[in-house]
Amino acid sequence: MNQPTRILTLALLLLQLMDSIDAKMSIISTKLDIKVGDEILLLCKAGAEGDITWQKDGEDIDDEEIVNKLDEASSKLVIKKATMQDAGRYTCHCDFDSGHKDDAQIQLFVYDGPSFGSTKTYHEFLEGTDGLVPCLVTGQPQVDVQWFKNQQEISNVGGHMRKQSDNTLRIEKVKREDAGTYVCRAQIRGRPSIFMELSVSVVVNAPPTVRLREEVKKVLAGPETNVSLLCLVDGLPQPNITWTMPVQFNPSRHHFNSDSSQLTIQSVVREDFGEYVCTATNKIAESSATIMLHVFEAPEVFVSAEQQRVLVGEAVSVSCNVTGHPHPELHWLNKQNGQTLSSTSGRVRVVDNVLMIDEVVPSDGGLYSCMAISSSGNASRDVAVYSK
Ligand SMILES: *[C@@H]1O[C@H](CO)[C@@H](O)[C@H](O)[C@H]1NC(C)=O
Ligand SMILES: *[C@@H]1O[C@H](CO)[C@@H](O)[C@H](O)[C@H]1NC(C)=O
Ligand SMILES: *[C@@H]1O[C@H](CO)[C@@H](O)[C@H](O)[C@H]1NC(C)=O
Ligand SMILES: *[C@@H]1O[C@H](CO)[C@@H](O)[C@H](O)[C@H]1NC(C)=O
Repeated sequence: MNQPTRILTLALLLLQLMDSIDAKMSIISTKLDIKVGDEILLLCKAGAEGDITWQKDGEDIDDEEIVNKLDEASSKLVIKKATMQDAGRYTCHCDFDSGHKDDAQIQLFVYDGPSFGSTKTYHEFLEGTDGLVPCLVTGQPQVDVQWFKNQQEISNVGGHMRKQSDNTLRIEKVKREDAGTYVCRAQIRGRPSIFMELSVSVVVNAPPTVRLREEVKKVLAGPETNVSLLCLVDGLPQPNITWTMPVQFNPSRHHFNSDSSQLTIQSVVREDFGEYVCTATNKIAESSATIMLHVFEAPEVFVSAEQQRVLVGEAVSVSCNVTGHPHPELHWLNKQNGQTLSSTSGRVRVVDNVLMIDEVVPSDGGLYSCMAISSSGNASRDVAVYSK
């Protein structure tokens, strides 16, 4: 290569280098993902003087409200309110004064939403039924929906919950532990940073149920006897408990625990017997159970006299009565010979619980006993007959 050729080659190279520096075109945009309604602002810097034109997806843009020449080497494109149709490839083309041509390109993504419209944020379901929790999302170009509970995505495999094709969360046979806050997360497809979340509360209801530890309760009346009736209640919301009793409520003898599930009766008396009904009520339904309280009474014996002093030949008459529940059998006993006096006629007899002895003889003297016998116990009272 001779000297002049070498110089020419060098000059050409330099020119090419300068040209390529000149042609360093760029489009500057504040963002590439634009929400519908927001402003689009593109700035094209040609780097050297020339004639700048804009194209969108290969079509010329010559609307002067949109494209504006800033100076000989730059131009801007402004769209005040972006619409979905503004998405696409924008090209800034420059015919440089040097005769060279070049362009720069940028791809703009336009999206709308996502938004949840009139999605309900509170649901109540009855335990055991199927619950549907819709998430009514809108958004463009496309929205992907995920459901979360406790920061965990609800998987469509396994478990009893799944997202339907319409984005509704379906809970099969709702359980109590399904209550809580769910999050519907809507994301513009392909744009992980563009999303919205909506919290939806789920409340689970269950009708009241009542369980008793014992349906029949038996106690012996007495000042020392306290009896507790227990009603085990379940339901959601927590049911209220009320009691109906066979006797008038008496605050000095009837006590309830804090949730009224237990009724305590102090110093039980015979009159307390009967049906105690506990009723559990919540807004779903009510349910009751009945406890039968049997109150037994220990027998007691009353005699009209504990000592009888009579002269031989006179008559003796002692009446006896017994109380208790069940009502006791009454027997008169001659304690000298241990015999029960059952005759209703004769000289020594028992008539209507009255012991009668006609024309007393000396051997009639001694101890007699009026006895009360029942399943609640026995009692007796002695009567001493003295004859002379
Ligand atoms: C019955 O209840 C009263 C009051 O709470 C108590 O003082 C008493 O000791 C109780 N009696 C029995 C036998 O538990
Ligand atoms: C339960 O009791 C509370 C307090 O007395 C009352 O405010 C509520 O309305 C009751 N609920 C039902 C279902 O009866
Ligand atoms: C039974 O006992 C009560 C109490 O002591 C008495 O008032 C009543 O008269 C007695 N009745 C008979 C039949 O003895
Ligand atoms: C009560 O008396 C009956 C009959 O005499 C007797 O069989 C029973 O064992 C007695 N019961 C008690 C608790 O003393």
